[in-house]
Formats: sequence, C-alpha cells, structure tokens
Amino acid sequence: MDGTYSQNDLSHVVDADKAHVWHHLVQHKGFETKDPNIMVEGKGMRVWNQEGHELLDAVSGGVWTVNVGYGRERIAKAVYDQILRMNYFAGAAGSIPGAIFAEKLIAKMPGQSRVYYCNSGSEANEKAFKMVRQIAHKKYGGKKHKILYRDRDYHGTTIAALSAGGQDERGAQYGPYTPGFVRVPHCLEYRAGDQGAPVENYGEWAADQIEQVILREGADTVGALCLEPVTAGGGVITPPEGYWQKVQEICRKYDILLHIDEVVCGVGRTGKWFGYQQYGIEPDMVTMAKGVASGYAAIACLTTTEAVFDMFKDDAGDPMNYFRDISTFGGCTAGPAAAIENMAIIEEEGLLENCANMGDYMVDQLNNLMDRHAAIGDVRGKGLFVGAELVADRDSRSPADEAQVQAVVADCAAQGVIIGATNRSVPGYNNTLCFSPALIATKDDINQIIEAVDGALGRVFG
Ligand SMILES: Cc1ncc(COP(=O)(O)O)c(C=O)c1O
Repeated sequence: MDGTYSQNDLSHVVDADKAHVWHHLVQHKGFETKDPNIMVEGKGMRVWNQEGHELLDAVSGGVWTVNVGYGRERIAKAVYDQILRMNYFAGAAGSIPGAIFAEKLIAKMPGQSRVYYCNSGSEANEKAFKMVRQIAHKKYGGKKHKILYRDRDYHGTTIAALSAGGQDERGAQYGPYTPGFVRVPHCLEYRAGDQGAPVENYGEWAADQIEQVILREGADTVGALCLEPVTAGGGVITPPEGYWQKVQEICRKYDILLHIDEVVCGVGRTGKWFGYQQYGIEPDMVTMAKGVASGYAAIACLTTTEAVFDMFKDDAGDPMNYFRDISTFGGCTAGPAAAIENMAIIEEEGLLENCANMGDYMVDQLNNLMDRHAAIGDVRGKGLFVGAELVADRDSRSPADEAQVQAVVADCAAQGVIIGATNRSVPGYNNTLCFSPALIATKDDINQIIEAVDGALGRVFG
C-alpha cells in the first residue's frame, strides 16, 4: 500500500470516485444518496466490493466479458512478462504475441485468414465498415457502399457504429448519423406477432425481409450485411430455425459481404469458439472483442477471408490500394499475450463443453421457473448466454414494466447475485433479464443465480 488508500479503509477511494469519476451508463444523481460499487477483488465467479461484500457475478464483469473468470494468474504473468520485454510498437510492425495469437485464432476459424488488431468492439466494427466502403470505391465506383444492420442489434458506441445500431434508445440524442446504413427487421420469433409475421416458417420470413430491403435499396448499392449471431443487448435473441441458411444464400445471391459481429458471442460464450459456428455460417468478416482476453487486457480483432484481404493487396502499383487505417492501441502487446493464455485456459479446462452443458442447465432451470412465475414470458439462450423476457401478461405478451425488471435486478444484487437486464436500448422492450456467467460456472453457481431470480420475481411480481 502506498498510503493513498488501504485495503481496510476504502472511504477515500469512494470519495475520490464520487468526486471525479464519470461512470458509463449511469445517471449520477443516485450517488448523492448512495455509494457506487467499487470492485476491489475478483476470484473465479465472484467479486468483492469496497465493503467486503461478496457478489456472484452472473454477467461476467457486467457486459459479458470475463469469460474465464477472475484472478487468472497465468494471464497476469504472461502480460507482465510480455510488457516488460516489449510493450508496444505500432501495428505496421509485428509482435511475437500478435503473430502467435493470430495463428491460433485463425486455426479456430476455418475460412478466415487475416487478423487486424485494434482495441474495442466499436472500433473493430468501424474497421469493417471502412473496408466495405473502400472495396465499394475500388470495385464499384463507390456505389455498392451501403451497410445493412438489423433492428435490435448493437455494434458499438461511436457515431458510425451507432449509425448501424438497431436500438433506438441507445442512439437517441446522438444524431445526426452517418449516411449509408440501412435497417432490416429483427428476427425475434417471440415478437413475430408485433411484426405481422406468419406463424409458420418465421425464420425464412425474417430472412426474406432482408431480401426485400436489398431489392428496395438496389443490390448494386448494398456492400455488406452486419449481424450479431445471437443478438445480445437487444434482448438475447437466438435466431429462428431456417434463418441463417437463407441469410447466407441472400448474401451470396447479391454479392453482399457478410460481417458477423462476435463481440459478445466470440471466444466461447455460446459453447463454440464463435457464435456463427453454431449455425453453419461462412462469414466474410468477423469482429470480436470482449471475451478475446476476458478483460485482462484491451484487445479487439477484425478477421477476414483471404479474398477480402486480397482486395487490399492485389494492385501494389496503386498508392491508395491498401487498408489505410490506424489503430494506435492495436499495437499493444498485452492484448494478444493475454488472449493466448485465455484461449489456452478455455482449451485445457474444457470450458466450451462446460459452457454448453451449463447453458442448457440454466435454460432448463429458468423454464422450470415459468411454472411458478407468470412474469416469465420466454426463455432464450445458447451456451451461457441466456435471457428471460418478462411480461405483464403471458397471453398478450405485453412487456413487463421496465421499473419492475430493474427491481428484479436490484433484488438479486441485494441477495449477492449480479444479473443484468436490457436497458435504454429498445423502446418499450427493455424487459429481458440477461445472464452471462463465466464459462467456468458450476451447477451450484447456476442454482444460486436461479434461487435469487426466483426470490426476486416472487417479491417484485407477487
Ligand atoms: C454485439 C456488440 N458489438 C459491439 C459492441 C461494442 O464493443 P465495445 O464496447 O468494446 O466498443 C458491443 C458492446 O456491448 C456489443 O455488444
């Protein structure tokens, strides 16, 4: 301890935080009457705050990130060794962990061949958007530049990423937005009625809606389709049967690049290395961030096929024909050093299998809760990426009041379990409880989460 704070008394830290830190996604008026949580320590699935309260983290650091759990010494050591030896050099040069992680990553992604490093999910998505636009300029006189994105999906916080954002409350008040981004309908089967969709073959219907947008815009203007494999913050939307196969066909038919945003699903969250691998998708570009190094270091990657890469290499005589993008912190070596260990942990501990098994168990347990709580309208999930949509009325499916949804989250926190819920994202539909425990979760951990939710639902909804 250097005297500025002590392990036993963190009151000065709390005061400093309240005086100076501007927290993300928080209305700060509340801190006039209560203290923020300062997370002091983490081990496995659990974290401890400034008061020494132990909390079971069912959301992997709040935003589906800490996939291998807290306190991983081997990641810390690898990062320490690496940054002492060589912490940084801009990405025009290579690094040992950068090369090794790229090789390991591509080995998990048949069909992909190149890795571009940067430092956040938003940034990775923007790189992909820039590539699409540059390809449009190179091959199509700038015309085939539009990027389709889906209602309820999220691709990041920057202005162009928000321009591709399907969550209107996230985007509200931050416009005007970047032109060239066009929305397609969501594929949440539970809400098919609100879309006026047929009950039969919903997946094909939802994919057809994308084709309708392409035809309306003109296929010669559409460069890419950017989708989450399973929509995260928009309500944990698992794709309906038949959806992805049709989407892939549509992209091929109209020569549209398929950009899969794996920022949440990537590196294990659904029980496979990547969410797209659950559905047999063959993407042209893949972006990932959160789970790549489980938050031990900031790292994001954009991977592409060799065919996409080639379009930036084939004419070396043209001084403009390369990807003229800069990412300062894409050159930090801590990210790939941590990512190598993160991947090794997942392999050595069999965490993909555990994630798939525990995810199924969690979905079963939540489905069981439906017998006791009419407020649960729908349970959805893939691996340890699970959502429970709360309703005011199961027959009409009218969404539960957002204040009640937040009351369930608060009640769980009071019981020592951190869960999440969709918030300020889709107007009128911020009603899905979100669960994304670390891939190391055991049945006992899941049971503790379910018990907390059971108690909270009983108290909030009666
Ligand atoms: C699907 C998806 N894409 C992109 C992002 C943006 O990532 P970042 O916050 O690292 O910029 C997020 C963040 O929550 C996300 O959920």
